[in-house]
Amino acid sequence: MVFIVAIDGPVGSGKSSVAKAVALELGFAYVDTGAIYRALALAALEAKVSWQDPAALANLAESLDISFLPSVNGQKTLLKKIDVSTAIRTEEISQGSSKVSQYGEVRSRLLALQRRLGEESATGSVLEGRDIGTVVFPNADIKFFLNASDEERAKRRFLELAQRGDKVAYETVLADLKERDERDAKREVAPLFAAPEAILINTDGLVQRQVIEQIKNQIEKVYRK
Ligand code: DC
Repeated sequence: MVFIVAIDGPVGSGKSSVAKAVALELGFAYVDTGAIYRALALAALEAKVSWQDPAALANLAESLDISFLPSVNGQKTLLKKIDVSTAIRTEEISQGSSKVSQYGEVRSRLLALQRRLGEESATGSVLEGRDIGTVVFPNADIKFFLNASDEERAKRRFLELAQRGDKVAYETVLADLKERDERDAKREVAPLFAAPEAILINTDGLVQRQVIEQIKNQIEKVYRK
């Protein structure tokens, strides 16, 4: 049986960097499920399918030629065998991914893929997203929910975009983040919320290493049994 670690949380909660590090240090596979919704938003843009058309999006999701490769940065995302890892990280695609992920028919089409990716590992997998502990792997061996204040999360996202040369004003990043949070948390299907048994970590004022160690310590308590 593959040991499943679920890490959920909103934009900028720090889950990506932490999930990648935990997976690497424990020798587990890393699965970034947000990349799947991002790739779908990009595929829709390329195919001129509206982000507001659930039936067409569901069709696209069904035939989505998406694959992942482990890489030094965690995971490479390929769409029709082309590396789109950078193209899916823009603010436009961030908003698009949050829009396409609202629809139940889209989410159900992408569920099997997420479960397969999680189960592929010979040891364990760390999956990060919004509904890993609630929907994708409700029986995960251990669940975490990361959060931080809006301002702290916007600051992290702003720095991440700036590092990539994406010149977006801090105020825009904060507004986009609030809009995306609101949509992700209020949608009818699989909204963002912490599973009751999830270990809650507020990452405000914590450095990444502290969060990584907290998570690894908790995992070791269960994994070694
Ligand atoms: O984690 P991220 O920012 O890359 O995710 C992009 C969007 O995808 C996010 O705004 C909501 C959606 N998403 C989701 O609905 N369920 C997941 N498990 C992961 C992401």
